[in-house]
Amino acid sequence: MLIKRIGILGGTGFVGQSLCNRLSEQGYQLKVLTRSREYKRDNLILLPGLDLVQADVHDPAQLTRHLADCDAVINLIGILNEKGSNGKGFKKAHVELAEKLIMACSENNIHRLLQMSALNADAVNGKSHYLRTKGEAEDLLHGNKENIHVTSFRPSIIFGSADSFFNRFAKLLKMTPVFFPLACHSSKFAPVYVLDLVEMMVRSLKDPESYGQKFQLCGPRTYTLKELVSFTAKTIGANRKIIPLNDILSRIQAAIFDFVPSKPFSTDNYLSAKTDSVCTCNDLMHYGIEPMAIESIVPQYLTNHSYRSSYTEFRTTSHR
Ligand SMILES: NC(=O)c1ccc[n+]([C@@H]2O[C@H](COP(=O)([O-])OP(=O)(O)OC[C@H]3O[C@@H](n4cnc5c(N)ncnc54)[C@H](OP(=O)(O)O)[C@@H]3O)[C@@H](O)[C@H]2O)c1
Repeated sequence: MLIKRIGILGGTGFVGQSLCNRLSEQGYQLKVLTRSREYKRDNLILLPGLDLVQADVHDPAQLTRHLADCDAVINLIGILNEKGSNGKGFKKAHVELAEKLIMACSENNIHRLLQMSALNADAVNGKSHYLRTKGEAEDLLHGNKENIHVTSFRPSIIFGSADSFFNRFAKLLKMTPVFFPLACHSSKFAPVYVLDLVEMMVRSLKDPESYGQKFQLCGPRTYTLKELVSFTAKTIGANRKIIPLNDILSRIQAAIFDFVPSKPFSTDNYLSAKTDSVCTCNDLMHYGIEPMAIESIVPQYLTNHSYRSSYTEFRTTSHR
């Protein structure tokens, strides 16, 4: 399959920026669809061969039109929280978008699609709206009758200089004076480095053996949430006493945060955390990728973080 030009949805985000960087290095032409071109343009427009296009991906006509000149599609769009709490926002962002993508690919004769999913995505047994709708999207895409070869990527939490996990906990720890109450403290995660994930996506793009696969992606070690937050606190030099909340208090904390506009934690997040985010088999090894550990990467950005440093890192890795 000849792939020169790739349409990318969600390419302006944390994973998307690293992925675009790597694909551009490999000489691909990229078309990144965004809801806010002016706001998101800074890093991406530096990349050779990348078009950043303002688009409403939820409008089937626009989606089809914008993907018309692409040979493959990568869908990175995902939300961790919705405005309400009835699941409609998740359904739109994950499931309905997958349906529209199948139609757009079919109309444009596109036969290759990479889907960013999540560990424990499961349309039936997923404990949260997030996990169920991610699972439904996977099922729809993998079951397409349009001869679109789909590969899904199911990472645990992803870390890297612009991540929302370690950076958010670092910020919260700095804001909390002495005690740090922690919900879901015993939930397990195996954080995977964003550049390992991106490498896996790039290598599988043209590999027919990856068609139909749902790859599980983890880092080299599993940690409880408490261990990860303690590691974050130690890294930034914040001497805080972490207070593990029991299940009832975790649920109450989530229910309270449901009413905070930015939803730093929500009932849906609480329900997702009920299932450990760990791999039964780490498929990074499938491509001989040795996963990086948090200990060797996270301190580099948590102790030296500024917009300028991210920008410099981005330019360095893109050799500009
Ligand atoms: N980060 C993690 O730890 C993690 C772990 C497991 C799975 N994942 C999955 O990996 C993918 C990428 O994650 P990320 O951390 O890079 O996310 P991110 O930084 O939030 O980026 C996602 C991008 O998707 C677009 N987007 C978000 N909501 C949208 C909506 N309702 N409609 C249309 N576009 C929307 C945004 O682009 P514009 O604003 O430019 O339109 C945004 O830049 C997601 O599918 C996520 O579920 C992430």
